[in-house]
Amino acid sequence: MSKPTIRFDKPTDWPRIEAMFHAAFGSDAEFQLLQRLREDGDLGFLLTAENDGDVVGAAAFSELPIDGPEAIVRAAALAPIGVAPEQQAGGVGAALIRAGLAQCRKKGFEAVIVLGYPTYYRRFGFSAAAAEHIEAPWSGPNLMAVALDDETPPLVGVARYPAAFSVEVKRES
Ligand SMILES: CC(C)(COP(=O)(O)OP(=O)(O)OC[C@H]1O[C@@H](n2cnc3c(N)ncnc32)[C@H](O)[C@@H]1OP(=O)(O)O)[C@@H](O)C(=O)NCCC(=O)NCCS
Repeated sequence: MSKPTIRFDKPTDWPRIEAMFHAAFGSDAEFQLLQRLREDGDLGFLLTAENDGDVVGAAAFSELPIDGPEAIVRAAALAPIGVAPEQQAGGVGAALIRAGLAQCRKKGFEAVIVLGYPTYYRRFGFSAAAAEHIEAPWSGPNLMAVALDDETPPLVGVARYPAAFSVEVKRES
């Protein structure tokens, strides 16, 4: 499998992303979340992975302030992320996540939050320990965070998820 090109989305990618998310998740919920984020103006940025001219993965990042007693941490939510079934386990997800974290750092985010598989996200620096003082509609080992900077204050406070997440709350990426 060739190495995917990671880039920002183009409008013409969206029908392919819809079909790809449907195949990856077996549901329309993730694409609906993505659409709602975009409609609400809450989609920070969307990265796509392209292989041989085809969109084979996508990862969305949106503003998720952590509203604490002492500071508001500028965090980003990573969700949804999906890879075409026939391309899974070939490094596409990892390439999207690594590029997304770099882009978040560039855009001044201090941390990234994800709800997903601990064994997978640990390799990118995410941990449940870093998220344990975040108040979110979800908690437990699948809620993970990674600080992007040595100066990032402790992640303590209420996670202000964009409204799109209140429609589809229970998810794993
Ligand atoms: C999760 C996902 C984004 C990862 O992207 P990817 O390109 O397949 O993964 P990568 O090639 O970067 O990494 C492969 C690793 O991911 C792990 N992984 C993939 N899916 C996983 C899962 N469901 N649980 C735990 N680990 C998983 C693989 O075991 C593999 O681990 P290894 O490197 O230790 O062998 C992708 O598999 C996907 O879109 N899956 C479908 C969505 C999904 O999981 N749906 C379930 C909904 S609950």
